This record gives sequence, C-alpha cells and structure tokens, in this order.
Amino acid sequence: MTITIVGAGYVGLITAVLFSELGNQVFCIDVSQDKINLLKKGKTPFFEPGLEEYLNRNVKEQRLKFTTSNSESIPKSQTVFICVGTPPAKNGEADLTFLFGAIAKTAKNIHDYTLVVIKSTFPIGFENDIEEIVKKNTKAEFEFAASPEFLKEGTAIEDAFHPDRIVIGTNSKRAQQILLDLHDALPGERIICDMRSAQLIKYASNAFLATKISYANALANISEKVGANVEKVLAGVGADKRIGHDFLKPGVGYGGSCLPKDVLAFIAQANAFDYNFDLLRSVDAINNSQIDIFINKVREALKATEDKKSNLEGLSLAILGLAFKPNTDDIRDAPSIKIIQSLINLGAKLTLYDPKANENAKKIFPNLEFTNSVYQAINGKDAAIIVTEWPEFKEMDLKNVKKNLKRPIIIDGRNLFDVAKMKKMGFKYFSVGR
Ligand code: UGA
Repeated sequence: MTITIVGAGYVGLITAVLFSELGNQVFCIDVSQDKINLLKKGKTPFFEPGLEEYLNRNVKEQRLKFTTSNSESIPKSQTVFICVGTPPAKNGEADLTFLFGAIAKTAKNIHDYTLVVIKSTFPIGFENDIEEIVKKNTKAEFEFAASPEFLKEGTAIEDAFHPDRIVIGTNSKRAQQILLDLHDALPGERIICDMRSAQLIKYASNAFLATKISYANALANISEKVGANVEKVLAGVGADKRIGHDFLKPGVGYGGSCLPKDVLAFIAQANAFDYNFDLLRSVDAINNSQIDIFINKVREALKATEDKKSNLEGLSLAILGLAFKPNTDDIRDAPSIKIIQSLINLGAKLTLYDPKANENAKKIFPNLEFTNSVYQAINGKDAAIIVTEWPEFKEMDLKNVKKNLKRPIIIDGRNLFDVAKMKKMGFKYFSVGR
C-alpha cells in the first residue's frame, strides 16, 4: 500500500519506518525543509536508538521517501497518517493549529477515496470540525479514524514492532479493514471502537501511568516521614499481579512531551464535558511538588535551610542528567529544567552533564557550564545531583567520584545506589523515600 505520513516528529518517523519496514511504499512529509534535508542525508533530528539504521535501510531499498510536497505523495496514497504535534495551549488544552493545518493540506490533495488516520493525540469533540475542514477542501470521498500511538521514547522502535495493542477508532467497516490489513504482521490485541473511545484510551493510558508515578512519589514521601524504605514498600505492593511493578519508580516526577501535557489536557477536556477530574489534579499537584521536595533535600544536604536564612550562594554543584529520561536527548518538560532554575535562584553555581542532551539543554541555558564527562562535571564540586538515571551514572566508579568531589555529597533523584553501601564508602548520600 502507498501511505503518506504527515509530520516527521517522533510519532511520524517511527510510523514511517514501521510501515516501510513492513513492505509498504511510504512518503513522510514535513513543513520544515531543514528537517527533510537532514532526513534525506540519513540523519534523524533527534536521538532514538535504532531509528537511523531502520531509516537508512528503508530509504536505500526505496520504500521510504522524504518530501515537503503534499501534492507529490498524498494523491498516490490510500491512507494518510496525521502525526503532527498538539502542544499545550496556555489554558492547558491542546493547541490544534498544526493538526487542523495538516488536515486542510491533506484534504486539498485528496482525489480518490482516502482514509485519514489521526495518530496525533487530540481532544474529544473535534470530529465535526475536522470533517468540515476536509469537506471544505475536497469533493473526494474520505473517511476518518483515530489510531493513537503508545510508543515510549528510548524504546520506540521495539514498542512499534511489538505493540501491546493496536487501537482502531472508526465505525467504518472499510476503514477498519484497511487498518487491520496494514497492521496484520504485528502482534498485540486489536481494539476496534469508535473514534471517541480511541481518543479516550490514549488520554486514559497516559493519565494512568502518571497516576502510578505520582502514587509512588506520594508513597516515597510518606516512607521518609515514617522511616520506611519505599523500595521495599513498592516491591511488596507491585508483587501483587493486579498492581504490577511497572511505572512505580519514585523520583523527581514525570516529565517529557506527553505525560505532563496529556494529564492537563485530560483535566481540561473532562471539565469541558462537565466532569471535575480531581483525581488527576492531585496527580499533577504531587508531580509538581516532587521538585520542591527534591530542592529542599538538596538544601538540607548542604545545610542551607530557611531558618538559617542561608541559601546555596557560593556552592558549586554538578547536575548529572538533563534528558527527561535515559536513552533520549529530549529535554521537553524535563524535571531537570525546573531543578536547574530553582538551584540557580538559590545562588548555586552549576555544571551540567548529560550523555546525549547537552546540546538541547544549551539552548535553554546558554550561560551555564557544560562538560563532556561525568568526572569533569563533578570535579571539585560541593555535591553531585543525579536527575536522570542514565546507565553510565549507575556504573560510575564511586571511588573516583569520591576523590573528584570536594565534599562527598550525592543527592540522588533516581535511587541509583544502595544506601548502606554509600554510607560505608563515606558518602553523605540522599535519595528518594529511603
Ligand atoms: C509516554 C507513555 O509511556 C507512552 O506509552 C506514550 O505513547 C507516550 O508517552 C506518548 O504519549 O507519546 P514517554 O513520554 O516516552 O512515553 O515516557 P515515559 O517512559 O512514559 O516516561 C515519562 C516520565 O515518567 C519520565 O520523566 C520518567 O522518568 C518518569 N517515570 C517513569 C518515573 O518517574 N517513574 C516511573 O516508574 C516511570
């Protein structure tokens, strides 16, 4: 089948390599000429393990083509996947400018029956607007489906080829069959439903993951107060198969381009349909307070508490990890950003290091010092602060770390090390919920 993917971001590029690898003829279009030029050279605009290999193979075998031209690809395609961003607007709702724009441009180039599949996460209640946009721009026959994406950054390729479920949100039998055929080679449960249910599955899944994380963070805070060890608590809780261990790791809160925005968008949508989603408000509030709790931990570790009226003035700190999670260079809504801003406000002098995200972080913090290794970052510092659980931090030579730091203080937002072992080595080690 010939397919067009609109939008060469995360979802678009992964969808493009997936369907081309499965033997389809795929066009991937984007409005950014720079991005398309980069992709044509075989380079991806972000770091995602395995993506470049898949991309280059499919380009070489002429199954995958990048273009900025809608008219080159859409008329040839029976199915068009819309994969553009729906970033948060100021009021927490999703900004649909890119989505509506992409649909209008798609519609202008439809000549025969075309199935338009929306993979972008978009709020419920806009079906009529979308249909109107298409009708205004074409006389040709078309149908819609929502088929949300569940891939995770860092393991996106694996997730795309081994999905837990494939959601096909349309009442049209014809559209259902096209999507069933397209996904035929993939494992995973097929969930066939109406468009609104499909959209709700997406928001509900991300919001549930966020809820699990906030629950784990709340338990970490309670564990600290009562003198329990949250790791043991969650090992016990997660051992119940009905609950499970996944997404119960406490830390500095969830970040990234999806969970924070989708929780807020879901609250806003529920509101629009007259439901007060207090549960998710609390999930969001716990997530935000997790940063303040962590900053207080840094202040306590360095004995800079409110009552002494002291701050972190004059102290030098190494920030280890800037990406919102390991195996990505993505810093969108990363907890590191708020942590860095708070520490700067308290007067600390920061040196930053991330194995992949330094370049992206430099755009936000052009005046801060960055290093190319963890040991350079910690050298002569009053403390090391771990924000992202990169494997290379877990594998650090701790004897060397201790030798390099001015004071043997580590504040670990991701519980990378054993508390007793760190104490034995002579570290002042602070972690989450332990
Ligand atoms: C998330 C969902 O997991 C995907 O299923 C979904 O497709 C995607 O959003 C999306 O909507 O596009 P992603 O944003 O890549 O994927 O990242 P996650 O792996 O979900 O992690 C989000 C944040 O939660 C990270 O900051 C991570 O450090 C944090 N986290 C995760 C925890 O603090 N504790 C955990 O136990 C798990």
